[in-house]
Amino acid sequence: MEDMNLIFLGPPGAGKGTQAKLVADKCGIPQISTGDILRQAVKDVTPLGKEAQGYMERGDLVPDQVVIGIIEERLQQPDSQAGYILDGFPRTEVQANALAETLEQAGSAIDHVVNIEVGDDELIRRLAGRRTCKDCQEPYHVTFSPPNVQGVCDKCGGEIIQRKDDQEETVRTRLKVYREQTAPLIAYYEKRGLLRNVAGTGDIEEIFHSILGVVEGR
Ligand code: AP5
Repeated sequence: MEDMNLIFLGPPGAGKGTQAKLVADKCGIPQISTGDILRQAVKDVTPLGKEAQGYMERGDLVPDQVVIGIIEERLQQPDSQAGYILDGFPRTEVQANALAETLEQAGSAIDHVVNIEVGDDELIRRLAGRRTCKDCQEPYHVTFSPPNVQGVCDKCGGEIIQRKDDQEETVRTRLKVYREQTAPLIAYYEKRGLLRNVAGTGDIEEIFHSILGVVEGR
C-alpha cells in the first residue's frame, strides 16, 4: 500500500490509538498522535508541555494554533512522506481547514477518514479501565486487553499507568468537548466524500480487518 494518508476520527475511547498502531505496523507508515506528542511534552516538561498540561488535565482541547504547529512540523519529517495516520487530529473545523490548506500547498491529500463509532456507555467502560504504558504509550485495558505481566508493558517493559484524564469527571468533559467541537467533522468529511464509518465495538482484531478492508478498498 503506497502513499496512504489517513485520518482516524472518533470519540475518546473509540479505539483510535489501538487501531492506528495496528494499521501503522501493517502498512509501514507512522501513527501521528497529537495526544501522544502532547503527553510526551508534558512528561519532558518542555514549553509545549507546560502550555498543554492544564488543558489536557481538564479534558479540554489544547488551542488550535498549538496543535496545528505540531502537525505541520511533523508532516515535514522524512517518515511522513510515504503516508501516515493522523490519530486525534484534526479535532475542530479550524484544524481541518488548516490541514487541508497545508496538504494542498504540498500537492498532497487525505485518502480516507476512518470514523470509529462506539456508544457512550461502552466508551466510559473502556476509559475507566484503560491503562497506558508510561514509556511507549501502548494502550491496555484491565479486562479487555491486559498485559501479560500486570503493570509491565508487553512491548517495551515500561511501567503501565492510568492517564490523569481517564478519571470519570474528566472523561465526561472530554465526551462533551468531542460532541461540541469534533463530531461536526463527521459531516465535514462526509461532504468531501472522504468519510468511512467503521463499527468500533467487538473484537479488536475484527475491527482492524474492517478498517483494512475500508482503506484497501476491499
Ligand atoms: P488523545 O490522546 O487523542 O485522547 P482521545 O481522543 O480522548 O482518545 P483516547 O486516547 O482517549 O482514545 P482512543 O480512541 O485512542 O482509544 P484507545 O485505543 O486508547 O488526546 C488527549 C488530550 O490531548 C485531549 O483531551 C486534548 O486535551 C489534547 N489533544 C490531543 N489532540 C488534540 C487536538 N488535535 N487538538 C486539541 N487538543 C488535542 O482505547 C481506549 C481503551 O479501550 C483502551 O483501554 C483499549 O485497550 C480499549 N479498547 C480499544 N478497542 C477496544 C475494543 N474493540 N474492545 C474493548 N476494548 C477496547
